[in-house]
Amino acid sequence: MRSTMRAELRFTLNGAAVETMVRPQARLLDVLRDTLGATGTKEGCGEGECGACTVLVDGRAVASCLFPALEAEGKTVLTVEGLRNASGELSVVQRAFVDKGGTQCGFCTPGMVMATTALLQENPSPSDDEIRAGLVGNLCRCTGYVQIVDAVKQAAELAAKERP
Ligand code: FES
Ligand code: FES
Repeated sequence: MRSTMRAELRFTLNGAAVETMVRPQARLLDVLRDTLGATGTKEGCGEGECGACTVLVDGRAVASCLFPALEAEGKTVLTVEGLRNASGELSVVQRAFVDKGGTQCGFCTPGMVMATTALLQENPSPSDDEIRAGLVGNLCRCTGYVQIVDAVKQAAELAAKERP
């Protein structure tokens, strides 16, 4: 018999406080997409293998398909919807993916962009090898990865230029 029990969950999503009721075993991915309407985060494998569902929790990239929603209690969650600045401009990572053709069908892109955002926060000037290692958990069927590595390098350069 499925449990109908619900638990309260509060966290900050893309800068706004959210409060909802979730099943104790709910995945963060489902709460984001189905309950909170943040459908930019994609489900690929549902098993922690593809990275399509990557979001940042307290600045750390996690696979939201494996992340228990209740573990987000009191934390800060950033999804691709939260990357634009207050003026609505795309982040440097998003701009670089567009400029360099780092997105084709686009299914992997939200996860790639979030993983790249986390990577550049940790290492603002990664080498090609460090980029490939940093994105090893994110799979892309379309691009062959070369454009993605180029996009990450461009994002690092843009971020360095725009840093105050
Ligand atoms: S959907 Fe989460 S890692 Fe593939
Ligand atoms: S752009 Fe299609 S899977 Fe990456």
